Amino acid sequence: MMDTHKPTPSKDEIEIKFRAIKRAMVMIQLLIAAVIIFQLYMYCMPQWKAYRQRQTEREAIAQRQQEEKAQQKAFDALWKGSLGDSTLISSQDWALIQYGRELVSNTAYYLGPRGKVMPITNGMNCQNCHLEAGTRPWGNNYGAVASTYPKYRARSGGVEDLSKRVNDCMERSLNGKALDKDSKEMRAFIAYIEHLGRDVEKGKKPEGSGIYELELPATALDTAAGETVYQAKCASCHQADGQGLKAEDGVVYTYPPLWGEHSYNQGAGLYRMSRFAGYVRYNMPQGASFLYPQLTDEEAWNLAGFVNSQPRPGLDLSADWPKIEEKPFDHPFGPYADPFSESQHKYGPYGPIKAFYKKNKK
Ligand code: HEC
Ligand code: HEC
Repeated sequence: MMDTHKPTPSKDEIEIKFRAIKRAMVMIQLLIAAVIIFQLYMYCMPQWKAYRQRQTEREAIAQRQQEEKAQQKAFDALWKGSLGDSTLISSQDWALIQYGRELVSNTAYYLGPRGKVMPITNGMNCQNCHLEAGTRPWGNNYGAVASTYPKYRARSGGVEDLSKRVNDCMERSLNGKALDKDSKEMRAFIAYIEHLGRDVEKGKKPEGSGIYELELPATALDTAAGETVYQAKCASCHQADGQGLKAEDGVVYTYPPLWGEHSYNQGAGLYRMSRFAGYVRYNMPQGASFLYPQLTDEEAWNLAGFVNSQPRPGLDLSADWPKIEEKPFDHPFGPYADPFSESQHKYGPYGPIKAFYKKNKK
């Protein structure tokens, strides 16, 4: 007789089914876990991202603050001129110092074309280039003058005292005539400038004095790029034609000229590209400073190239640099003790000139 009963599942079969169910359960659990993880991920990720972003922002702010602090610290260490305590000085000396400061700040009123002492300069003020009466850090200030004069200067090939140096700027930067060494005006200039440097150790050049030394550009100056920057960032004050703008009184400039017959002449310090670029880098446009510069190195160099290729008064320079091997790399007039052209000395690239003298020094 046949057995009509279903066969009782064997132990193995039960095991197989049980395992299948178990596997299904695991799958379901995994699925649920995946859904939960996905939900968690969707919820947490934006929060995490926002947290990371806040973190990076905080780090960036901290870094900026640190940089600003470092810059402020560097600025605090720079030389800044001050008049100091008048009670330490005789009233006579103090009056002369004050007159000197006045002459530096408002030169045109005393020595300009309509000056009340004598009309012997082009109408610019010393302060146009020696900012804040020669006290501003990296503003072509007088910080290292009292401590280093009298000194040997290669331009004249001899030892110069301070009156000679002041007259250099009278004859070149102010395209004018020299002052008599014993005149009250010369004595006042000297009294003021020496007073400013009274605390500087003999022979020392304090950090921040004079003009900032920029790194040399690798390529020749781009005068066309300089003109573009000039029209964008300088022409509003110095005018598109570079002639500056006189105040209503017609005596003093509100914005001094950068070229043309009333500007500095070809023998002036600013006519050297490195002096011009270093001066404008941290001082122009007006309002810029060492802490808040508005030009890049490149812009400053190209501006120098553009401005110093515009017309300006000449000067007989035949007695300058009697030892031609002592000419600065950016002095634009030959003859030279090197094989480079006047054009390369003027516009660069300066690297090969520097390298030539470095090699031939040994
Ligand atoms: C057109 C710009 C300009 C004007 C205006 C000007 N100077 Fe200068 N002066 C310069 C430059 C540039 C230098 C050279 C700075 C350098 O070589 O680093 C200089 C250098 C000097 C120095 C020597 C500084 C040093 O550290 O060795 C003295 C002092 C000085 N000028 C006084 C005067 C006096 C005083 C007047 C006004 C009668 C005057 N300058 C007007 C641009 C000018
Ligand atoms: C907001 C007006 C203003 C702008 C813009 C300006 N300057 Fe000046 N600049 C002045 C004034 C004012 C002085 C004289 C500073 C003083 O007497 O205190 C001066 C002085 C100068 C001097 C020295 C004096 C001279 O006439 O030779 C040079 C060089 C100079 N500026 C170049 C520039 C260059 C390059 C730019 C453009 C990057 C520029 N300036 C933009 C106002 C300005």
